[in-house]
Amino acid sequence: MPATVVVGTQWGDEGKGKLTDLIAKEMHLVVRYQGGHNAGHTLVVDGESFALQLVPSGVLYDHITPVIGNGVVVDPFVLLKEIDTLERKGVDCSRLKVSGNAHVILPYHQELDRLTERYLGKNKLGTTKRGIGPTYADKSLRVGIRVQDLLDPKIFREKLEVVVGEKNKVLTKVYNRLPEDFEALADRVEAEVVPRLTPYIADTVSLVHDGLDAGQHVLFEGAQATFLDLDHGTYPYVTSSNPISGGACVGAGVGPLHINRVVGIAKAYVTRVGAGPFPTELFDEVGDVLVDRGREFGTNTGRRRRPGWFDAVMMRQAVRLNSLSELAITKLDILDTLETLKVCVAYDVDGVRHEHLPYHQSDLHAAVPVYAELPGWQQDLTTCTERHQLPPEAVAYLEFLQEQVGVPITFVGTGPGREQFVQFNS
Ligand code: IMP
Repeated sequence: MPATVVVGTQWGDEGKGKLTDLIAKEMHLVVRYQGGHNAGHTLVVDGESFALQLVPSGVLYDHITPVIGNGVVVDPFVLLKEIDTLERKGVDCSRLKVSGNAHVILPYHQELDRLTERYLGKNKLGTTKRGIGPTYADKSLRVGIRVQDLLDPKIFREKLEVVVGEKNKVLTKVYNRLPEDFEALADRVEAEVVPRLTPYIADTVSLVHDGLDAGQHVLFEGAQATFLDLDHGTYPYVTSSNPISGGACVGAGVGPLHINRVVGIAKAYVTRVGAGPFPTELFDEVGDVLVDRGREFGTNTGRRRRPGWFDAVMMRQAVRLNSLSELAITKLDILDTLETLKVCVAYDVDGVRHEHLPYHQSDLHAAVPVYAELPGWQQDLTTCTERHQLPPEAVAYLEFLQEQVGVPITFVGTGPGREQFVQFNS
């Protein structure tokens, strides 16, 4: 049975959690394939808000097996805390499965993330300081600790001792910091993590394939987004994994022929957290309206997100990179009060018009957006749940985006609640 990928098409925080939640009903497995607790999904269910960082959104449905795939980096302390919080709210997490091949984030990764950012000074990336980059770096260097290592105390201690020894050289000699206490860390992981995490650890590749073979529907849930992709994003202002749809193949262990549907998620405008180029960024009061009305502050870090107009040039690139079969537009209601809306349809770089993303990033820094202007609707969309309830200006805006991007818009978010959406095309 083919599978679906949900992927962010901008710089993250597009509302993937809500969309995933919406289509999860038809799914049997929901699989996270990259990233870690740098992600933050907020889902509002029956007026109650659930902030998820590592646990896949499907956990909120009893019929779904939520899976943390091999491509994810897992802070076990954070994961166990999140499970506790969800269970206190009555959410049963016992079905959760965590890949034994996923890599583990430990305190020294977070310390190194913070220290590197400080060292970079004005060139800092604006990471979430969750240890994501250093953990993926250890994975590539082949000195990482995998979740399955926790199941063998001898292997775990051996590997940890080597890696902590090396990190301590960097911490003490390069950064003049205190060393990590290997024994204390190993004891803490063995006491607090191993007994509690063990029941969740599984061969998730077999689990996913057994599901596919049995005709089950599988949803691969991306975190972060296309332009934060390590290979295809605005490097170095990216995360250290591959959020694009192809990342699902690597990060969950399936071949591309299993994937038959790729749902891209885009806000009706754009936001970005952290540093990096952003051609349609707004520095005026319209930007403030987007931030205020959209509550554009990080779910995890509380940082103010940078706002901007919808960018069809970037979106065309997202269609290519992900093989998007459809687009879901979120937070359309945030534009409710604006008189005029702008959509970037091309970039002007030194007098040359670009309808596709320029190859050289310096051109992206120099890009001047070419805007189309459309009238706003200036009415409340939050009660719209059917396409015919949308004002003509909102329909025209969505049809314009669709035409610019070249893929059909299926879902449109009109408010934070689970039921606040319109099926624009089926
Ligand atoms: P890291 O993933 O913590 O290493 O951060 C690298 C970049 O990705 C920074 O610009 C972060 O702000 C950004 N980033 C990481 N996770 C998210 C996310 O879930 N939403 C939006 N931006 C993110």
